[in-house]
Amino acid sequence: ENLQVSRKGPADFVSRADINAERVIRKELSKARPDWGFEMEEIGFIEGTDPDAPIWVVDPLDGTTNFLHGIPHFAISIAVMERDSSGDKIITSGCVFDPIMNEFFFAERGKGAYLNGRRLRVSGRRAMADALFGTGIPFLGRGSAEDHARFLRELGAVMSVSSGVRRNGAAALDLAWLAAGRIDGFWERGLHLWDIAAGVLLVREAGGFVSDFASRDKALESGDIVTANPAIHGELIKLLRT
Ligand code: IPD
Repeated sequence: ENLQVSRKGPADFVSRADINAERVIRKELSKARPDWGFEMEEIGFIEGTDPDAPIWVVDPLDGTTNFLHGIPHFAISIAVMERDSSGDKIITSGCVFDPIMNEFFFAERGKGAYLNGRRLRVSGRRAMADALFGTGIPFLGRGSAEDHARFLRELGAVMSVSSGVRRNGAAALDLAWLAAGRIDGFWERGLHLWDIAAGVLLVREAGGFVSDFASRDKALESGDIVTANPAIHGELIKLLRT
């Protein structure tokens, strides 16, 4: 009740914790890599002194609504984004930290995904009937009435053929949990780069598939993401599209 909170838009809040965490993270990362830029949820884009250097993609508090309601499920997400030899932006390392559970998920491109030092692998569940899914439910100010109706149709399709669907409220942790095999698939539309940059790398390094709703490798650009273990990713896309 005593948290200092302001409103960014309808049902879109920012707490002092978001702002303070972002400030601390920026200060520490700038000490470590003075030339790099930032893409941060609250401040936005800050160009680095070296425009060719990688940039930090930071969500200082993913799961703000959970935090504001005293629900102990939120995380800090930090990723490194750079350009590959053909100029495309790629995520080369990332971490998601859940301070309540003291779980530190991290991944480096080509080197695997880990939870507190233990190697992660997505689940091996192959049957939809055994699979547990995560999702993000659109809310006031997020998506049009038509988008809300479409989500309900998608939910209807997945819930009736699976072991269940969870809405845990922190997309970065949903992706980390998918990498850890706790859930088998996840979908959400309209996410921001900082919500998913680290999580996408975690899932891929743990052997999972990530795409947009049309199976393209465009989830980071569009913020529309469908991800799952390789055995059910195709089937999940098919279900969501029909
Ligand atoms: C939110 C969370 C939530 C998702 C929302 C995001 P934030 O991020 O990841 O799970 O459903 O779409 O905006 O605002 O708490 O950093």
